[in-house]
Amino acid sequence: APRVLSGIQPTADSFHLGNHLGALRQWVSMQADHEAFYCVVDLHAITVEQDPAVLRRRTLVSAAQLLALGVDPDRSALFVQSHVPEHAQLGWVLQCLTGFGEASRMTQFKDKSARQGQASTSVGLFTYPVLQAADILLYQAARVPVGEDQRQHLELTRDLATRFNGRYGDTFVLPEAYIPPGAAKVLDLQQPDKKMSKSLPEAGCVNLLDDPKVIGKRIRSAVTDTGREVVFDPEGKPGVSNLLTLHSAFSGETVSQLEERFAGRGYGDLKKELAEVVVTALAPVQARTTELLADTAELERVLAAGAARAREVAAPTLATVHERIGFLPPR
Ligand code: TYM
Repeated sequence: APRVLSGIQPTADSFHLGNHLGALRQWVSMQADHEAFYCVVDLHAITVEQDPAVLRRRTLVSAAQLLALGVDPDRSALFVQSHVPEHAQLGWVLQCLTGFGEASRMTQFKDKSARQGQASTSVGLFTYPVLQAADILLYQAARVPVGEDQRQHLELTRDLATRFNGRYGDTFVLPEAYIPPGAAKVLDLQQPDKKMSKSLPEAGCVNLLDDPKVIGKRIRSAVTDTGREVVFDPEGKPGVSNLLTLHSAFSGETVSQLEERFAGRGYGDLKKELAEVVVTALAPVQARTTELLADTAELERVLAAGAARAREVAAPTLATVHERIGFLPPR
């Protein structure tokens, strides 16, 4: 079966609807016909300052949510990035293949560093996409399920793989981004010109583990557009279109069925129903996450088994890379 790899940062107390629909749903569905490697990317998380106790906790909560969403550890390797040292090792090799100008063009870096100011921007944040390339290439992944915001990082990954293969001989599979049609970019509920994100004020974000009351309130307070007709028009009505996309993603009704059903009714009706649909869909995920977190020893066992499986693939890839670039083999 073709390989798939993806990663997610443990930098919030809960994943949000953007993570879920843009990426995690595909993580789960792709297990059916891929050999999957899914990691909680703690090395990426420390590109900005993290409180150690909070990071440790969030890493476990992240793993619990992934299992609760349906990542199946019997089928897929679920692991923590820092448990597989080959990620950092291949990351270094790829950094030496990356142009300074090339890395400087990454728009996520430009946005994030501009927001933080140069003084608090780490070199790790700058090389972040190169480490991401290492994550992917170590496993010879053919597909990488991610949201739209990761497209440029995937292009860099392909460029680096092509460069390495050209210089040292065929070594890496060229990965393709798998960006879902529909919910590739879930928008913030308060600022529907921006993607939903944990770095915006929390009122615009719905987290998977939020209390149902909070979810209802955030959806009902979503910024909608002028006019009152429920129609899908991402350019002219980004707010309402985002709500329709969310509804469709959770209910399975198509956007045009929804337009028809809500014809002549206001935005309020749509929000009310959407809140119900989301709360109902998340209830079992929340319950299962709580259950899994009650036995952290078992969670840690699952992650250890995942890391062992990941290393079986990552170690030989790294050994080949070291050999090809001319490192003296250790004896
Ligand atoms: P992270 O942790 O920021 O986000 C995890 C996944 O969620 C997607 N996503 C969204 N999709 C749609 N709409 C949104 N509003 C939205 N917000 C987030 C992201 O596209 C991502 O797929 N760099 C990665 C982590 C990473 C990775 C990897 C991914 C590290 N190594 C290797 C793939 C392969 C990131 O920032 O994820």
